[in-house]
Amino acid sequence: MQVDLRILRYDPERDAAPHWESYSVDAAPRDRVLNLLQSVKDAQDGTLTFRRSCAHGICGSDAMLINGRNRLACKIRVEQLGRKVSVAPIGGLPVVKDLVVEMEGFFEKYRTVMPYFVNDTPTPTRERRQTAEDRERYDDTTKCILCAACTTSCPSFWAQPSYIGPAAIVQAHRFIFDSRDTAADERLEILADDEGVWRCRTTFNCVTACPREINVTGAILEVTRAIVGRHG
Ligand code: FES
Repeated sequence: MQVDLRILRYDPERDAAPHWESYSVDAAPRDRVLNLLQSVKDAQDGTLTFRRSCAHGICGSDAMLINGRNRLACKIRVEQLGRKVSVAPIGGLPVVKDLVVEMEGFFEKYRTVMPYFVNDTPTPTRERRQTAEDRERYDDTTKCILCAACTTSCPSFWAQPSYIGPAAIVQAHRFIFDSRDTAADERLEILADDEGVWRCRTTFNCVTACPREINVTGAILEVTRAIVGRHG
């Protein structure tokens, strides 16, 4: 089938502003949008720029705004979209070129929530034990691949780019509710800041955008309740 592919192009060295360009691409129904982009790059315009790495929904490199919704280009199939496909960069982050956005600000916020295991008590002779229920408590948020689809679909983030954003809160949640970790209070303190969880307006865009089907808004609300419980 022929797919009418529109891509929001922008080369800061050449263009005054982003503009749409159209390409006709031969595709099979089960091809991914990433295949379409690669086909354009290989056969029509080698300057087209986008990120990808694993091509299997694991690394989180290729989140894009596809037919109006944030998705991974390597996961969404042509048959799910139809013959007309539009692709633009994820919103709210500076565009470096075409579909590549500057992610440093995003990762800077991620780093502020201490996204690593903390436990300074003496190391036990065997592993730090945890019940199945304890493990289940944060299972959902372990699925995050830091693709930024949630944060860049969030109206609160668009309106206030200093908002720490859903992805960083999801990463904090993964450790806050881990029974073996001892730094929950520090993380809750960070997220109780003006730029923390209070900026969430529960629009649920993040839930719709997450390619791993994490209940992002639910995680934010759990963190919010933990902050309130701590001060209450
Ligand atoms: S390229 Fe790795 S998630 Fe799509």
